[in-house]
Amino acid sequence: MQIIRSVAELESAIENFKKQGKSVGLVPTMGALHDGHVSLVSKCRKENDIAVVSVFVNPTQFNNKTDLATYPRDEKKDAALLESKGVDIMFAPQPEDVYSEEEMSKTFDFDFQGLDKVMEGLQRPGHFNGVVQIVSKLLSFVKPDKAYFGEKDFQQVAIIKLMVRTMGFKLEIVQCPIIREESGLARSSRNQLLSDDERKNAANIYRVLKESVNFVPSIAPAELTQKVVDEINACDGLQVEYYEIVNGDTLQKISSWDDADYVVGCVTVHCGKVRLIDNIRLK
Ligand code: PAF
Repeated sequence: MQIIRSVAELESAIENFKKQGKSVGLVPTMGALHDGHVSLVSKCRKENDIAVVSVFVNPTQFNNKTDLATYPRDEKKDAALLESKGVDIMFAPQPEDVYSEEEMSKTFDFDFQGLDKVMEGLQRPGHFNGVVQIVSKLLSFVKPDKAYFGEKDFQQVAIIKLMVRTMGFKLEIVQCPIIREESGLARSSRNQLLSDDERKNAANIYRVLKESVNFVPSIAPAELTQKVVDEINACDGLQVEYYEIVNGDTLQKISSWDDADYVVGCVTVHCGKVRLIDNIRLK
């Protein structure tokens, strides 16, 4: 596996592979890799001649400096894991390798067509501007045939699909299912910041989400929303930031089960100092 840090070197390696007619898959990550990432990497490895994984904690998508400073990092461990999974290139740049000073200091401009005005977008202003900024850069460096994203970040996937459509990138976005720990907790790099007790408490998030499916369509979305919030808040050490039942395509809240065919319940919960997100398909 090649570890590449400069954009010029990455572009020249990719150009060589493309000249040989090889297909290229990309898995963008922020490192601290877990089984959720491994599932994306394995799919990418299987479906493409060349598998590229980026490992870059993107500063422009953090609206909270402490969150950026405490985000888990272990590049050596990530590199060993990716090598063992048959990855061809790990792209691990420094911020100055991908951004000019101006780009680092200015919010990236993008028309989200309202997709940023709900859930994570409301709670983390500027977050998705940074995500679109880095993912659009990665797509233009690597020019992959396919790029892989996990459904845990449900709003992120919807926004990336919009970006691909509106910025005219030619590739397939492959949306991969959430991978869970045995307890049901959605795999996340942030889980390593949880204490043993917090990890046990956090398992209640998925328990409540899973039970919520049984109430569709017998109780209205607003009532189910309140029930899920109350049940999670009643668990030790958990505090809901938001829970919304949304149309899975537009991310807008629904008021009746007839409002959409594709409906998802999305939640963000604070467990101690750790912010956890999860979602479940309701319809
Ligand atoms: O989902 C993530 O880890 C990040 O938001 C991504 C897509 C790698 C962009 O930095």
